[in-house]
Amino acid sequence: MKHTLRHAGLGTLVLALTTLFCLALPGTAQRRQRPSTPSGPWMNTNLSPDERADLVLKEMTADEKVALLHGVGMPTDEPVTVENAPSNRGVGYAVGVPRLGIPGIDMSDAAYGVRSSQVNGRYSTALPANVAAAASWDPDAAYEYGALIGRELRAQGYNMSLGGGVDITREPRNGRTFEYLGEDPILAGTLVAKLIEGTQSAHVIGDIKHYAFNDQESGRNSVNITVSKRAARETDLLAFEIGVTKGNPAAVMCSYNRVNGDFACENKWLLTDVLKKDWKFPGFVLSDWGGTHSTEKASAAGLDNEQPGRFFFGDKYKAAVDAGTIPGAELDEHVHRILRAMFAAGVIDYPRQRSVIDPFAGFETARKIEEGSIVLLKNKPAVLPLDSAKIRTIAVIGAHSDVGMISGGGSAQVDPIGGNAIAPKGEGATRWQEQIWFPTSPLKAIQARAPRATVKYDPGTDPAAAAAAAKGADVAIVFAYQWESEGMDLPTLSLPAYKSGDQQVDQNAVIAQVAAANPHTIVVLETGSPVTMPWVDAPAAILEAWFSGSDGADALGNILFGTVNPSGKLPNTFPKNEADLPHPTVTQPPPESQHFSGPTSPEQWAKGLPPFQVAYDEGLKVGYKWYDAENKSVLFPFGYGLSYTTYSYSGLTVTPGSTVKVTFTVANTGARSGAEIAEVYAALPASAQEPPKRLVGFSKVKIDAKQKQTVTIEIDPKYLSIWDEQKDAWSLIPGDYTIMVGGSSDKLPLKATVSLK
Ligand code: BGC
Repeated sequence: MKHTLRHAGLGTLVLALTTLFCLALPGTAQRRQRPSTPSGPWMNTNLSPDERADLVLKEMTADEKVALLHGVGMPTDEPVTVENAPSNRGVGYAVGVPRLGIPGIDMSDAAYGVRSSQVNGRYSTALPANVAAAASWDPDAAYEYGALIGRELRAQGYNMSLGGGVDITREPRNGRTFEYLGEDPILAGTLVAKLIEGTQSAHVIGDIKHYAFNDQESGRNSVNITVSKRAARETDLLAFEIGVTKGNPAAVMCSYNRVNGDFACENKWLLTDVLKKDWKFPGFVLSDWGGTHSTEKASAAGLDNEQPGRFFFGDKYKAAVDAGTIPGAELDEHVHRILRAMFAAGVIDYPRQRSVIDPFAGFETARKIEEGSIVLLKNKPAVLPLDSAKIRTIAVIGAHSDVGMISGGGSAQVDPIGGNAIAPKGEGATRWQEQIWFPTSPLKAIQARAPRATVKYDPGTDPAAAAAAAKGADVAIVFAYQWESEGMDLPTLSLPAYKSGDQQVDQNAVIAQVAAANPHTIVVLETGSPVTMPWVDAPAAILEAWFSGSDGADALGNILFGTVNPSGKLPNTFPKNEADLPHPTVTQPPPESQHFSGPTSPEQWAKGLPPFQVAYDEGLKVGYKWYDAENKSVLFPFGYGLSYTTYSYSGLTVTPGSTVKVTFTVANTGARSGAEIAEVYAALPASAQEPPKRLVGFSKVKIDAKQKQTVTIEIDPKYLSIWDEQKDAWSLIPGDYTIMVGGSSDKLPLKATVSLK
């Protein structure tokens, strides 16, 4: 869908029109007052959400029903109309049934924070990118992540989140890798379920997206993904299955792409057979923005709501019901699901109520999550943590680390306080695919933690000058970044070269020369995807800080100086080079399939752009499963991350039963307390024909120095099963299972074999 630019002038016009409408329309003037609780038999909270939805449905006219099936445009970018006036000017709005006290559904993008706050003159916290949350491997942190988003949505006046991205990182060059939760379905699914739970705890509708296989942005509106049912169910769909069944999102957003021939938003297999029947999803499916392509077909396949407009689910839908090409019961089923979701999420019992966001609490949450997400990739010879008592000179180099840290773009973009931290500075608004740096200054954070040291900044635009700045310093901290965004894929996994004035800056050369000049060089990466590191042997330490959110610099400062012990681990494999990936390049669409923008007319969109094919022929071998199966050594493996302390593992026992119980002991053998992510993998019997191993459980445990802790993890039998295409069901293959436990996918010191039937 086209995301237009938002100009300051348009904002003023919108404000003027809003005022006009609020004065002119008695109904909309009400929204400035405390909302009144709706009445009706459906307000009996002893009834189930299904019963309550049915009571409302009985009272509704056909027009009211159809009005719930679609949006009324994108209020953010459009003039105020009678329909969208009660909205909060987010990216989507479905009018409710005011006559019956059913509020409109007011949607905002909210991947790592509430988007477009500037439209309302508001503020929202930017959390570290979703991939960072995945690097924490911490379900409690994921809950806090979602809860903060839910609270801030509600405080701004929204009652629905468009967050919860969980497409698997099959293609690490995907420009939305930062919005997703890594390459493993069990890690990603577990965390997205917690994130949704957190979001919905604030009485906003939570959503999980983009269902499914939107694993590349190139040609996303036209690409046809072919994938076997077994590979589908055990990889991408497993993440959604866990998210849907454990997180209970009230909504699921179907994706732009085609899957095995049909667009995802009119794909009966995806929407009805898998999601609604097999997983028993009781909520509603809404299309990605412009992802609807038909009326009868999409409705019958299981799409409940078209966004952001009504090409297919407005008048055309009504006409189809009148003509009998869509049965009345089918219309009722869609409406029931939407109403049910509203009751279940609490948006009717707890009407939207604006309040003041707590930015201080938001900063603290963002900082703590980032502290648990930063991954220490290398620390030789233990240059970290820095000792502020001893250090006298620090060179801070590159990537605007004097003023800010970068964020991920597209519809996930959160507006920074005061606008972009680098020139040209905005007024808080962000523009589509503009690189936005948050005003969180590593330079200041470092200086604050080393008050007696001389801290000098070099922009890192000239490798020789950067090396000269690094040369005499006790330590050189060099920053590098790889920006990414919705609507594009990365051409390579290399740190990009960028333009600074007339200069082309080669970040790899800057790092290599700085590290050559100073043996105590620390590289800090701000990336969403894995990066290749031709210089990996040169620096003493490497930290992956991701897109670090509102208070990234303080989190980083606390890690650098050891106030916090690093505990994040990689949710994505860092390969040595692109040639090692399952697909050496991202398949690009031919010119006729290339449109990124949305529909120009329903007729054109009904046809869809001509498909081009991408075969997921790596099948089950996603991420580490690929490198394992293909015997490819990697730069940094999945599940890897160092600490300032050391851990040892012992005493594994594996007890079969309705769940397989895995018990072991983790000891902190070092001198600092820390949090260790213990990982459990399983190798299935050979007859299962699976990749060598899969993650089946994990636990992040806090352990004080010289202490140990016993950990028990119960493994869901599904996580040990395969998808049997003949039976169309999960199936546990009888035989010997090797359970492996340790602190990284490549370092699993404990092993035990258990026989399962
Ligand atoms: C994105 C969705 C987003 C929607 C609304 C689409 O282009 O794919 O993730 O929620 O726009 O902004």
